[in-house]
Amino acid sequence: MTSPTSPTTAITHIANLVTNNPSLGDGTPLGLIRDAAVVIDGDRIVWTGESSKAPATDNAVDAGGRAVIPGFVDSHSHLVFAGDRTAEFNARMSGHPYSAGGIRTTVSATRSASDEELSANVARYVAEALQQGTTTLETKSGYGLTVEDEARSLRVAARHTDEVTFLGAHIVSPDHADDPAAYVDLVTGPMLAACAPHARWIDVFCERGAFDEDQARTVLTAGLAAGLHPRVHANQLGHGPGVQLAVELGAASADHCTHLDDADLDALGQGHTVATLLPGAEFSTRAQWPDARRILRAGATVALSTDCNPGSSFTSSMPFCVALAVRDMGMTPDEAVWSATAGGAAALRRTDIGRITPGARADLVLLDAPSHVHLAYRPGVPLVRAVWRSGQRVV
Ligand code: NIG
Ligand code: FE
Repeated sequence: MTSPTSPTTAITHIANLVTNNPSLGDGTPLGLIRDAAVVIDGDRIVWTGESSKAPATDNAVDAGGRAVIPGFVDSHSHLVFAGDRTAEFNARMSGHPYSAGGIRTTVSATRSASDEELSANVARYVAEALQQGTTTLETKSGYGLTVEDEARSLRVAARHTDEVTFLGAHIVSPDHADDPAAYVDLVTGPMLAACAPHARWIDVFCERGAFDEDQARTVLTAGLAAGLHPRVHANQLGHGPGVQLAVELGAASADHCTHLDDADLDALGQGHTVATLLPGAEFSTRAQWPDARRILRAGATVALSTDCNPGSSFTSSMPFCVALAVRDMGMTPDEAVWSATAGGAAALRRTDIGRITPGARADLVLLDAPSHVHLAYRPGVPLVRAVWRSGQRVV
């Protein structure tokens, strides 16, 4: 197993190892192995099993009876922005409702910022997320809303992650407030042409006050034709067509899913679109919680993500989202941890992350706790003790 170029490392004496491989360990979706070890070679996991059977390696790390989980996969964030919206949050906490109109405040601050300021902001929030165990993070444009500001947002995002999403259709640009059709033409024409080379995904905010069903379909189909894969902000502020559209177009995920009717649940249960729930948004807007239990019962795959952005959810913490999902959305701790790791990987159509199994990328989190359940049981406590990404110890 040893090779001259990549020393092997074993993490031993893991009280509970979450593999997310149901054929390993206890046979549940989490594939829990007790008193386990993991062996890393280069950037990959090469062995998992009982600690007493671990093969000899170059290095060893004794987990000391703590738990190890896959690195969190945060499949939905909006990190390319400048400024903040403290005043708006304060107003909400004294009874004002959330409105997508606040996005304009961030658009104006983002347009005024330099590339270096934007990049430093992204770096700060990516680092914050990493300290809390996030080893893969998707992020979006959407606060530029001109051809040049959207393209540079994506270029900045791509300095920090491979999972980059073009969200020119976040709201109708203030420059086109009187002519939304012209803005959709811009997004699907010159803006898409400038942005597609820098992104993997295309997203649209399909919601009253943002883009309606026809506009959202136009944006997503243009994105598909340009080689981008769709994902949709759907059914966040009220019931709407977003979820059904996402499933119809084979989107990787429908995000928010707060207001769903039975037809939406049927569509999610039968389709291949992941339902991505963003409990930080309901927390920070004092909105109704999505009913994760009902979505799981419908047979859908559920992911959990932060939605980190300065308006509706200014948290980079996946452990916080796990705790909220358990307390307020009807998920068990096992389900929430699965959704924050393997679920996020599914929402990004990735099979190399979100699992601790031979062949997977070596992205692992050592918790300062004997079990992953403590992520919900001990909310707000910094339980991330060490993080490996692509086999490198990074925290
Ligand atoms: O996912 N809903 C649309 N976009 C963000 C909020 C953006 C903002 O308020 O700045 C979201 O919640
Ligand atoms: Fe969002």
